[in-house]
Amino acid sequence: MEFPFDINQSFSERISVLDQNLVASWRSTGSPELQSHIATVIDELGRASAKAQQLSAPITSASKLQSQDHQLYLLKDRESCGGRGVVVGFLKVGYKKLFLLNQQGVHIEAEPLCVLDFYVAENLQRHGYGLELFNFMLQHKNAEPVQMAYDRPSPKLLAFLAKHYSLMQSVPQVNNFVVFEGFFLNRTAVQ
Ligand code: ACO
Repeated sequence: MEFPFDINQSFSERISVLDQNLVASWRSTGSPELQSHIATVIDELGRASAKAQQLSAPITSASKLQSQDHQLYLLKDRESCGGRGVVVGFLKVGYKKLFLLNQQGVHIEAEPLCVLDFYVAENLQRHGYGLELFNFMLQHKNAEPVQMAYDRPSPKLLAFLAKHYSLMQSVPQVNNFVVFEGFFLNRTAVQ
């Protein structure tokens, strides 16, 4: 994704970790121009992801990120666009308190790390960028894919999880979250 400003100036790292504190500190200390560029990128990514998933409204935006306790990992490619850089995609995660059903249909209360939104630019999909983002997040959060929950995963995300992490057998739920066999190991039932 190209923008009419220098992506390398807005995001110094190949993968930037954005959360409500960082967005808030940019708002209070960063230049207004930098703030508006960062917000433009997050809003544009959120819209593109919603479109790709055929959602009626984005679930990711700069203002939502500021008010929610989520982490957004943003991947850029420094060299593209004549050295100004392009935004490749993002992954958003956060902890959610969930009531889930284990394989026996027993309610389990858990607060797992959840994948909430995930998007790689259309022309860059299937080039390994999603895996790079996901693996960075796993290391940063010290998490394992089988212990995570996935909010309304798209067919592409399900294929991604099966291919890269061998997550295939999901345990049926009554909400929009998907968890896989192995999630319930060492988790106790609600009394
Ligand atoms: N059709 C089927 N599977 C796909 C597709 C596709 N068009 N694109 C990626 N995949 C899966 C496949 O398993 C693929 O392996 P293969 O090419 O050997 O079949 C694998 O992902 C490729 O891995 P990466 O290249 O690392 O993944 P990518 O960079 O494409 O990122 C992502 C994966 C984020 C799901 C991307 O395809 C995307 O943005 N899709 C559109 C938006 C979307 O569906 N996001 C998930 C929303 S659900 C949620 O966030 C909880």
